[in-house]
Amino acid sequence: MSSEGSNQPHDSFDVELVARTAREQMPPGTSFTEHDADVLRDYKDFLYSLGPLLLHKFYDTLYAYPPTAAIFKAGERAARERTLADWWERTVNGPLTDSYFNWMAMVGLVHVLRGVTNPMMLSMGDHVAEVVAQQADEQLSEADADRLNASFGRLMSTVSAVIAHGYDVATEAALFDVAGMPMALLHRLRDQEISQALVRVRGEIGPQIQS
Ligand code: HEM
Repeated sequence: MSSEGSNQPHDSFDVELVARTAREQMPPGTSFTEHDADVLRDYKDFLYSLGPLLLHKFYDTLYAYPPTAAIFKAGERAARERTLADWWERTVNGPLTDSYFNWMAMVGLVHVLRGVTNPMMLSMGDHVAEVVAQQADEQLSEADADRLNASFGRLMSTVSAVIAHGYDVATEAALFDVAGMPMALLHRLRDQEISQALVRVRGEIGPQIQS
């Protein structure tokens, strides 16, 4: 189902619809499945053991880079480590059912309000998958690492897709509220603006890619 053309106002931001739409738009083979949930269950203890390393790497990465460090308030790190530890525990323990992805749609919104952008969220989703993959490659047999990494990679891709889609829907819904115009008209005006911008950008980019 698509949210295109929907006329829902902002105060009805629907986490269930956001999560479902994002997952349905992912081609088969790229999005998280029940089979992946079964695979992750087989590696639960291993994944759980990665918690402390993951927390440390995640926040060292964010605090070492000024644009992401600037998101945090003074003295906030311990509280943030706790929220990520809780997220990890819930992710590893499962169940990774619809309600988990609905929760991720909400978590995406929490970040919008703190000025965390999609590039920040998506790159950190990849970072989590990379830390897990590195550890799996080091600590597990090749067959186990391949099995786990494929399923865990799809989990993080799906979490990222839900978060990114939530960002789009929340922004659109807020514009809808402010402009008070039907969503279909808002989309048409958006596409007109983007078409004009594309003409200009193509003109600028064209000579660059030729050189
Ligand atoms: C894979 C990526 C990420 C995951 C899974 C994640 C997970 C979470 C979770 C579960 C919460 C608690 C939400 C709640 O209140 O219920 C949270 C809060 C928060 N996260 Fe993230 N996060 C991610 C990326 C980031 C990034 C990239 C930043 C900053 C650059 C960030 C900064 C924050 C902040 C500041 C809060 C507190 C929000 C508030 O309560 O005001 N997170 N995160």
